[in-house]
Formats: sequence, C-alpha cells, structure tokens
Amino acid sequence: MIVLKKPPEAQLMRDCGRAAAAAMVRMADSLRPGITTAEIDVIGEEVLSEYGAIPSFKGYRGYPAAVCISVNEEVVHGIPSGRMLKEGDIVSLDIGAYKNGFHTDHAWTFPVGEISTEAKRLLSISRESLNQGIAQAKPGRRIGDISHTIQSYVEQNGYSVVRDLTGHGIGRDLHEDPSVPNFGKLGTGPSLRAGMTFCIEPMVCVGRHRVNTLDDHWTVVTADGSLSAHFEHTILVTENGPEILTQWDQEGGADA
Ligand code: CO
Repeated sequence: MIVLKKPPEAQLMRDCGRAAAAAMVRMADSLRPGITTAEIDVIGEEVLSEYGAIPSFKGYRGYPAAVCISVNEEVVHGIPSGRMLKEGDIVSLDIGAYKNGFHTDHAWTFPVGEISTEAKRLLSISRESLNQGIAQAKPGRRIGDISHTIQSYVEQNGYSVVRDLTGHGIGRDLHEDPSVPNFGKLGTGPSLRAGMTFCIEPMVCVGRHRVNTLDDHWTVVTADGSLSAHFEHTILVTENGPEILTQWDQEGGADA
C-alpha cells in the first residue's frame, strides 16, 4: 500500500530532509586521507542531533551505527570501523534521519583526494543516472519509467546496476511501498501521484552487477571486486514534478 503524504506531512518530511542533507555536507567536509569511517559516523550522528533528528539506521534490524560507509568495491551497508580512508578511495556515505515522526534517507559517493580517471567517470555517470531517474518522478509517469531510465543510462555508458537492492517508499517507516528498482521497463509498475515520497538510489558497478554480502552480515560488495558507487535522494512527487527533500548546495564546499 502506497501512503500519500498531505501537505502538512510533506512539510514535516522537508524539515527532516534538511537534517540528512546537513549531515551529508558536514561528513563530506571531513573527508581526507587518514580519517576513520567511525569518525565520520560520529560526525553524521552529531549533525542529526543538532537538527533535532536521530539516525534512522541505528538499531534497524540490529544495524550498529548511524551511517553506512562503503569504500571502493563495497556497494552499500558498510559498517563504520577503525578503517582509515586513503588517497584514491571512493567512499559512499548513506544516512537516514528520523524527525517529526518521519524518515528521510540520503546517500552520496565522494572521492578521497585524487582518484583514478575510471573512478571519476563512475561517480559522474552514477550521479547523472540519479538525476535522470529523478526527472521521471512526476504525475503521469510510472515507477518503471524511473527504473528503465536509470538502467538504460548506466548500461549505455558501459556500467551495470545492482539488482538485488532497490529504492523504496519512505515516510513514517524507513521502507514503505513502492519498491523502486534501478532496472525495468517503461510503462510498468505503480503510477506516480502527487504526495508520494520515495527514495531513488542507483547502485552502479564498473563491472558486473552481481553482489555478495560479507561475513559481517551487512557489507554488500561487488562479486567481481569492481568499483561501485551509490547516490540516493528522498523525493516528493508534486503536481509540478519532483521535489528533492534531501538537497544540499552541491556547488559549496563538499562536491563529488
Ligand atoms: Co534507502
């Protein structure tokens, strides 16, 4: 069942989304060789609390941290630890904020120092696939239009989309209907209506789309060890098209 949000509820989610976006900016500003992923997690949780929000992920199915931090061939759900980032890594930060009785969810992949040409290309193709998916999020379109647009853009550029994990509706629950796959067919799936809120979150691999889960039961890695990136925004569908609830100033200090 897809829950439509009325304008007052959308306003509460907008406010919640600002917390997730602010946390992303501050975590991004902290990135440098030598910082540990656990230190980044602390920053994310601190910013949420400054904004009156708490982490959506901590305790979710036993997840132990506020932020999912996934490096290089790690796709999603990496657990913060004493691991130090190093020059040339790419790092995906994924944070959920809970405030006003609602969740928002946001992920971005950043370079650490100077990265390879291939890694730069992966970040730009993956980020553009999210933008193209978001552009489909308007009344009259269907979920499959978002899915297909992301898949075809990524595959045209020689990369693959992860199929085992999807985007999702979001609101009073972190995961609501509908599921938002990153692959699919035009003209299929639920029709989009104003008041829907969902996360679009392409996970893109340089190599093949197969993934495995590590023995920690969380960290998802590419099966072939290729680099992977993850970009996610929480979107509100309005009569005028998509509104991004987790937007931050991407021309500011922290840019991919
Ligand atoms: Co999500």
